[in-house]
Amino acid sequence: MRIQTGNPVSGSDFYKRVHLIDNAWDLIDSGAHILIAAPRRVGKTSLMYYLRDNPKKNISFLYLDTESINNENEFFRRIVNKVLKTDFIKGSQKVRTFLETNIPTIKKVGPEGVEFGVSDGHDYFDMLTRILKSTACEDKKLVIMLDEFPETLENIIDDEGENAGRHFMQSNRELRHDSELCNNVQFIYTGSIGLENVVSKLNAMQSINDLARLKIPTLQKQEAKDLIRFLLESLQFDLSEKLINYILQKIEWLIPFYIQLVLQELKVLARNEKLDKITKTAIDRAFGLMLEQRNHFENWHTRLRKVLKGHDYNFVKELLNIASEKDIINSNDIFNLAVKYGLETSYKDLVGSLVYDGYINNEDDSHIYRYNSPILRMWWRKNVAN
Ligand SMILES: Nc1ncnc2c1ncn2[C@@H]1O[C@H](COP(=O)(O)OP(=O)(O)OP(=O)(O)O)[C@@H](O)[C@H]1O
Ligand SMILES: [Mg+2]
Repeated sequence: MRIQTGNPVSGSDFYKRVHLIDNAWDLIDSGAHILIAAPRRVGKTSLMYYLRDNPKKNISFLYLDTESINNENEFFRRIVNKVLKTDFIKGSQKVRTFLETNIPTIKKVGPEGVEFGVSDGHDYFDMLTRILKSTACEDKKLVIMLDEFPETLENIIDDEGENAGRHFMQSNRELRHDSELCNNVQFIYTGSIGLENVVSKLNAMQSINDLARLKIPTLQKQEAKDLIRFLLESLQFDLSEKLINYILQKIEWLIPFYIQLVLQELKVLARNEKLDKITKTAIDRAFGLMLEQRNHFENWHTRLRKVLKGHDYNFVKELLNIASEKDIINSNDIFNLAVKYGLETSYKDLVGSLVYDGYINNEDDSHIYRYNSPILRMWWRKNVAN
């Protein structure tokens, strides 16, 4: 297993999170449509890659990153093009007949399937529905995984307005519940921003209330240790159990990404300074170096800057500043802050979205909020609060 600190991992670089994979399969097998609800960088895309690369018999996975898409027809066109290349459809005589009779411009469907270009101007929602129906109810299943879906919804809202956004969500829902699809087509949605936050601003929560939530929890301590051991196999140094515990204690919020980042910094440090032994001091320094890599954390801040305006942004920023300096912020202080910015009626939603997006939690005590990750807290204190 090699260290990877940016892109989603796959193949032998993917640490198999057994419980998580079992939970995902339980939901898929139950026929549910799924929303993977998890904060930024916890491993959503990597999990979907794993499912795609390790399907069960008679199940095809389709993975599409929809981030750049900004209108509904384009969204369905991109899915149609992918669907036509899946085993679910490929070689199907029914689909071939459908395409030949309904789309006269297509004379032939080659081995790689048909691909529709931007200028082909069809109603792709309708086409997708009909293509899926033409092979539905057979003894196989298609799972369509849509990554960065909330981003697409935001793009549509930005470019075409809220009504277009609601329509988009409604079309997705309609497709999920088309009875002629015999539950053979399932959808998994996810993205690095919370779908619920975007949808609730549209007052359209009913459009996703049918989705089962798949949570991606932090790693259990033993899993985190296993991941470190696997990564150490490709490194020139070893770490004692005591030092591993020290690292985990410092990371606290045990997501694979932070483990990878720390080991990456240790690797560079050990090489540059020709360390033959890793010590606590070296680990402390690796953490310091990690915090200097702005690109790994910047997104947590720019995202808020992008979606929140005026007092909403000021409120959230000050709340996070205080929590980064004092370690905690209690609900009284949060309320006082809301009063300061005139947000008494809406601040709870803002706090809720910080929790949902993985900045803070109040799990130990409902009145006290703290950062999920001390690493993010330190980064914020250094780069945003000061
Ligand atoms: N199962 C895993 N095994 C090893 N490393 C992992 C695993 N899952 C996640 N990672 C680490 O976390 C990083 C982020 O993973 P990934 O891109 O899958 O997360 P994400 O939740 O999709 O992130 P984003 O919210 O930015 O889209 C990877 O670059 C890798 O360092
Ligand atoms: Mg991702």
